[in-house]
Amino acid sequence: MDDELNALRRTRMRWNTPLSEPHADLLLDRMALAGGRLVDLGCGWGELLLRALDRAPGLRGTGVDTDVAGLERGRAAAAARGSAAEFTEADAATWDVPVERAFCIGAAHIFGSAKAALEGLARVVRPSGRLLYGDGFWAAPPGAAALDIFGPDLLTLPDLLDAVAGAGWRVLHLSTADQLEWDDFESTSRAGWAEWLAAHPADPRAERVGEWLDRRLREYVRDYRGVLGFTYLVLGR
Ligand SMILES: C[S@@+](CC[C@H](N)C(=O)[O-])C[C@H]1O[C@@H](n2cnc3c(N)ncnc32)[C@H](O)[C@@H]1O
Repeated sequence: MDDELNALRRTRMRWNTPLSEPHADLLLDRMALAGGRLVDLGCGWGELLLRALDRAPGLRGTGVDTDVAGLERGRAAAAARGSAAEFTEADAATWDVPVERAFCIGAAHIFGSAKAALEGLARVVRPSGRLLYGDGFWAAPPGAAALDIFGPDLLTLPDLLDAVAGAGWRVLHLSTADQLEWDDFESTSRAGWAEWLAAHPADPRAERVGEWLDRRLREYVRDYRGVLGFTYLVLGR
């Protein structure tokens, strides 16, 4: 799809992860935000980063991503809200500045695997610091179609927790996205294009957009609803 449509697709999403407002508040509580430095690796448009900085005025925050459109959205939101958050276009796996707090949500693939991400993040977060780590896991045995979509590397929750412990982290908080959070995530991820399609039924791109919307909904309901889980872990040492 072209840049115009790509920019439209996520406009209805609060953030790019299955997470309600109250759940986000709980996670930020558990991060015990204060002063120092926070980095959000694979930040997307950094909405959670902006909220973290709103809560803790002494905190300096940087979002890192490779997606230029997401970074622009984050910078525009920061400017509109008078936030000092910075957004940097870079490969997050190369971040090497020690921080007191880090977010890595839905972005472990940047490091190659959950294990590599947890080990890499342990080198970035200071020993007294905290990490908010969000990742997918198999909540039920996947069928062939789900394996095809998400690949063979996804872990079960117990195996993910073994990787957490193996990288030297202690779990301070564990929660998982519930069904409403998943359904809202999937619906809002489709809403930007669904609204465009309703307004532009005769556009030459309409057929492809419609096919994408139908496929995404079909795959969700048939292949991974209730099978793909997502966990949020606040980790310390
Ligand atoms: C599922 S999204 C999660 C975004 C964000 N953490 C959130 O919760 O809204 C994964 C993000 O990783 C970013 N990404 C992928 N490869 C990257 C890389 N090498 N360095 C930095 N960001 C990357 C994508 O552009 C995308 O914004």
